Amino acid sequence: MSLRAKLLLPLLLIGVLMGAFLFGKWIPDSLTNDEADHLKMAGQHLDSVAEGLIPLLLGNQLDIVHENLTALKKKNPAWTDIRLTNGTDKQLYPLASAQPPKDSPNPDMRTLHKPIAYLNMNLGTLSVQINLAPALENARRENRALALIIFCMLAIVMAVTVFLLEFAVRRPVHLLADASKRLARQDFDTVLPKIGRDEVGALVGSFAAMRDSLRDYHADLLHEITERREAEEALRKLNATLEQRVAEELARNREKDHLLIQQSRLAAMGEMVHNIAHQWRQPLNSLGLIVSNMQDDFRFNTMTPESMAQDVERVRRLLEKMSTTIDDFRDFFRPDREETQFDVAEAAKQAIFVIEATLKNNHIDLAVDTPSGLTVTGFHGQYAQAVLNLLANAKEAIIGKKIDNGQIRIQLAEQDGNAVLTVDDNGGGIPEAVLPRLFEPYFSTKEQGSGVGLYMVKMIIERNMHGHVAVANIENGARFTLLVPLFKEN
Ligand SMILES: Nc1ncnc2c1ncn2[C@@H]1O[C@H](COP(=O)(O)OP(=O)(O)OP(=O)(O)O)[C@@H](O)[C@H]1O
Ligand SMILES: [Mg+2]
Repeated sequence: MSLRAKLLLPLLLIGVLMGAFLFGKWIPDSLTNDEADHLKMAGQHLDSVAEGLIPLLLGNQLDIVHENLTALKKKNPAWTDIRLTNGTDKQLYPLASAQPPKDSPNPDMRTLHKPIAYLNMNLGTLSVQINLAPALENARRENRALALIIFCMLAIVMAVTVFLLEFAVRRPVHLLADASKRLARQDFDTVLPKIGRDEVGALVGSFAAMRDSLRDYHADLLHEITERREAEEALRKLNATLEQRVAEELARNREKDHLLIQQSRLAAMGEMVHNIAHQWRQPLNSLGLIVSNMQDDFRFNTMTPESMAQDVERVRRLLEKMSTTIDDFRDFFRPDREETQFDVAEAAKQAIFVIEATLKNNHIDLAVDTPSGLTVTGFHGQYAQAVLNLLANAKEAIIGKKIDNGQIRIQLAEQDGNAVLTVDDNGGGIPEAVLPRLFEPYFSTKEQGSGVGLYMVKMIIERNMHGHVAVANIENGARFTLLVPLFKEN
């Protein structure tokens, strides 16, 4: 049921009840009381008239009685009929010849009978017919006016109530309900009723505040959802490409390592040219000797086909040896892209071969104890490069400290399924302070040092060959250890 109906129904009910009370009880009661009052007054009047008639009746002065009653009737127009009978019910007034009063259709006609007695003597009865209509009509008119006023007031109260209800409560509440529905559909731009100072105004005010905070909250939420979606999308894309990117990055790193190692090997080229020159010095001298011998033989005619063949054979062997030297160097420089099984002693020997001439030139003694037969898996050339880097560092330490009897010892042994190679020197060792930083890339204490030598050793042994590199100070020098797991055939 609507609010309007809820408020109007009781008002209507009150109206009906009031109408019923007015017309069913109050007005009839009031008319009855009026009638009773009138009759009472008439009765009193009649009493005094009857009392005045007593002496006239006792004295049988009927003509005066007639006069009096006629005058009385004239004076009271509402008294439509006055009748006087004597003790034997004989009519004295009006004269018996006069017509008895007709039964009147007037419902407001009342008849009063007043017995007249004196000292227990019945003198007669005075009867009066009274027309109450004019008096009662007056009362009825007043009552109707009163009822009309009451109904008008009730109607005004109802109209004012309905008006107030409509404009102060129902419309704002209706608008609020509408706004709530729109709010539920996330429409925040609904028009709200004006904010008054009454309770409905307070309600509208709180609703507006609620709507504003909801709007802000909704905007924040949308913003957050968008951000989260974007982040999720980015994450999804990242995830999709992550594996590929990791693989690419790994491949790129590996490629970089290879390049670095290759560059470093080229840097050792100077060292090797020096070595080739040294290696070739002896066969070149021999060649020179053979050539001058041949020249002498020719000059002194002592050249025989045998001696010629012998000399040619010696030259051929010397050239072969020189060629082998070149091949050895070429092997060292050949980049190895494939993992293979190789003998650690072979790789060590390659490194030694590259540097031994320089060591000899600097009067550094090299002791080699590298038994063959220890096979590992990895890059042959890289391992040789690692050993060469250690030998070069040892050499530089000895030269740097100007050690007279420079000594380097390289040893290889099997230990718990690993090939363990150590390089010892007597170059004075490494200060404790720099020990933890030794394998960092670009860490160097040398003026010309690039600081990549040991970093590369660590990468080759630990990352590429799953081994381990260690450093320690020993008596007068340093010891570097390369540990690589042995190849296991399954
Ligand atoms: N055997 C050694 N004795 C004393 N110090 C050493 C020895 N080996 C390495 N070091 C120290 O470790 C540092 C780093 O060596 P690393 O081989 O990485 O770089 P570098 O020799 O300085 O330069 P690069 O080898 O790149 O030309 C060296 O500068 C040196 O101070
Ligand atoms: Mg170095």
